[in-house]
Amino acid sequence: MAVDILKISKDARDAKKIYDDVIDASIGMFFDEDKSIGGMPSVSKAIRSLVDDQVLPYPSVDGGPNFKKELISWVLGKYENDIKKSMFVDACATPGGSGAIASTFSIMAKPKEYIFVSDVRWQYERFADRAKLNIFEHKLFDGDAFNIQSFKERLDALCAIQHRVIIIINDPCHNPTGYTLSLNEFNQIIDIMNQKKDNEIVFLYDVAYLEFTHEEDNRLKMSYLPKLESNVTTIITFSGSKTFGVYGLRMGAAIILSKDKDNVADVHKKFVNEARGSWSATPTISIELFNHFAIPENKKVFLKDLERLNGIVQARSKSFNEQAKEIGLITYPFRSGFYTVILTKDPDQDYLKLQDHHIYAVPMNGGIRLALCSLSLNEIQGLPQKIKSILNL
Ligand SMILES: Cc1ncc(COP(=O)(O)O)c(C=O)c1O
Repeated sequence: MAVDILKISKDARDAKKIYDDVIDASIGMFFDEDKSIGGMPSVSKAIRSLVDDQVLPYPSVDGGPNFKKELISWVLGKYENDIKKSMFVDACATPGGSGAIASTFSIMAKPKEYIFVSDVRWQYERFADRAKLNIFEHKLFDGDAFNIQSFKERLDALCAIQHRVIIIINDPCHNPTGYTLSLNEFNQIIDIMNQKKDNEIVFLYDVAYLEFTHEEDNRLKMSYLPKLESNVTTIITFSGSKTFGVYGLRMGAAIILSKDKDNVADVHKKFVNEARGSWSATPTISIELFNHFAIPENKKVFLKDLERLNGIVQARSKSFNEQAKEIGLITYPFRSGFYTVILTKDPDQDYLKLQDHHIYAVPMNGGIRLALCSLSLNEIQGLPQKIKSILNL
């Protein structure tokens, strides 16, 4: 089982009560330069402005027509109309992106089957464990690029032994590496999924960090979705936690897309059923908070806050990467986002060594993940050198 990131984060908070030099780079929450968590005033204000009717009642299980309509528009952006010309779309509210991932595993796979993931990844095995699923890996990188050959070869191997395959692509700002696929790489992934005509492919497109990429058009990849053929069902998993910085509200959704109308209706029904039989319904407050920001004048204010926050996130990764490069500390290829991974020989021991020096980070396949989103520029200054010395890199 993967390490428990929430536990490492709790240990860091406990250590902070005793020591004043603790660096907590364990968890993907944005903290401002003054270490406060409310990085977006528009969000804090909106939460407090919600009235009883927007907080207390049970919601519609799938979020209701307004939420679904606005959420689909939010995620697909200006490509929505084009996508809808050839695809059917529906959605279901979920408690965070996590709820969307867990329910996809539960309704789209049978126990003992495999899910298809990269060797360096966020903790998808936690959801797989619960759904009694196994992991089938492909290599994420070939040098500085996505390893398309491994993706294809490993998918061939899995498709030969299993009819329906859930493929997870976490993009942009891949957790833990900060990698973002190029358009060409994304296109090739789509082509490979289309080639699996004798299989059913479930493309779980985890866009938790969609708002934090520095691609010129952060929705452009959505415009490629209509290329997907009818052997592919796409589930886009949206995280309100990351988008709005409301980690504890459990805002999220699954967007279902397919060329087959009945398929979308069937999967939607399964999501609703899964919700009723597990978490029942997503918190009304998170649905209504999203609906608040779907109103154009509110969205405008939010986007201003987001822009400021994004600037800070970018400045942090720039500072870290420049220092790391100067002293020869090697990371996985990074493009943008909340995290970076320093390559180390023995991550399971190395993160403990860092803890001995009050630096809290998370071991990953191949290295140590630092959540730069939670560190101030001040904390980042000199950090690569400190890590290099502690780990003898
Ligand atoms: C890659 C990725 N996907 C999904 C999530 C889900 O987040 P939440 O359930 O808080 O929306 C996270 C959270 O860390 C993540 O890093």
